[in-house]
Amino acid sequence: MRILAIETSCDETSVAVVENGRKVLSNVIASQIAKHKITGGVVPEVAAREHIVAMIPVLRQAMEEAAVTWKDIDAIAVTKEPGLVGSLTVGRMTAAGLAFALDKPLFPVHHVHGHMVSNWLGDGPEPEFPVLILTVSGGHNELVLMRGHGQFEVLAESLDDSAGEAFDKVARLLGLGYPGGPAIEERARLGNAHAVKFPIALRKEKNFSFSGLKTSVFYYLKKHEAELARDEFVNDVAASFQESVVQALVEKLIRAVEDLDVKEVHLTGGVAANCCLRERIAKELGRIANAPRFRFPEKMDYCTDNAAMIGAAAYFENRAKFR
Ligand code: KG4
Ligand code: ZN
Repeated sequence: MRILAIETSCDETSVAVVENGRKVLSNVIASQIAKHKITGGVVPEVAAREHIVAMIPVLRQAMEEAAVTWKDIDAIAVTKEPGLVGSLTVGRMTAAGLAFALDKPLFPVHHVHGHMVSNWLGDGPEPEFPVLILTVSGGHNELVLMRGHGQFEVLAESLDDSAGEAFDKVARLLGLGYPGGPAIEERARLGNAHAVKFPIALRKEKNFSFSGLKTSVFYYLKKHEAELARDEFVNDVAASFQESVVQALVEKLIRAVEDLDVKEVHLTGGVAANCCLRERIAKELGRIANAPRFRFPEKMDYCTDNAAMIGAAAYFENRAKFR
């Protein structure tokens, strides 16, 4: 079963060809970062126009890299929501046109379901249920118990900003540009994570909250405005902020692992690219006897927005229909 998948929910135009939900024949991603750096964030109208420009070349490249012809494609998948409406529309219209022209089924996929199955992509052994998934992206922050494909139970979520959004906003305050996550991680590597004690919200509760942390960084920087010109100061604030986010995510994840009997723990979403977060989860799981297997996406490209994960989700959600 070969699915051609399209993802255009935000600022990446991506097309992939995925076989049986796991084997990635191609996963082409055209990033708009250079355009959005100018404005320090995504302007929805600009993003939609960029998708229109990139869509056909990316589609062609994905078919070429997969070395398949249209006859080899069994279905089309596309991100249906959530995302920027103009951006989503470009992907959805392209997918609908292809499905109609090829007379193949069209599978609309929820973007976050795509992130949640991104650990199925690749050559590793197939994950075993139940799986506890920590999804952390720019728009989403959820702890989900997955008992089988299509069986999701949301255990906790962010009551305000996601961790990724906090990374982006704090990076902007520090003058590190867009996108914030990789920039903060880079500077944090050079700084002292215990230089500033930023708060961890809702520590005793299940749900997440990151907007207070962002405000706390804002007031701290206002108070120390003159120091922003010093690299060491920026590095220390970046490291301390990152520490606070990682601590909040890891504490809640580990508590859930202790409460539940899961076979695997999966980290997914753009923030799953963060090495400090990956290392801390691995370290804390290492302290638990018979700890579940820990996975993060096999490639960095499977953490941030990509079409391969949409092809995987479409396959697992619909495979019963093809048996
Ligand atoms: O999953 P994603 O590509 O898009 C959404 O669905 O939102 O996630 C993007 C988010 C951005 O907030 C970005 O700053 C964050 O992922 N991110 C990171 C890193 N790489 C990307 N955050 C922390 N550390 C990173 N290395
Ligand atoms: Zn995403």
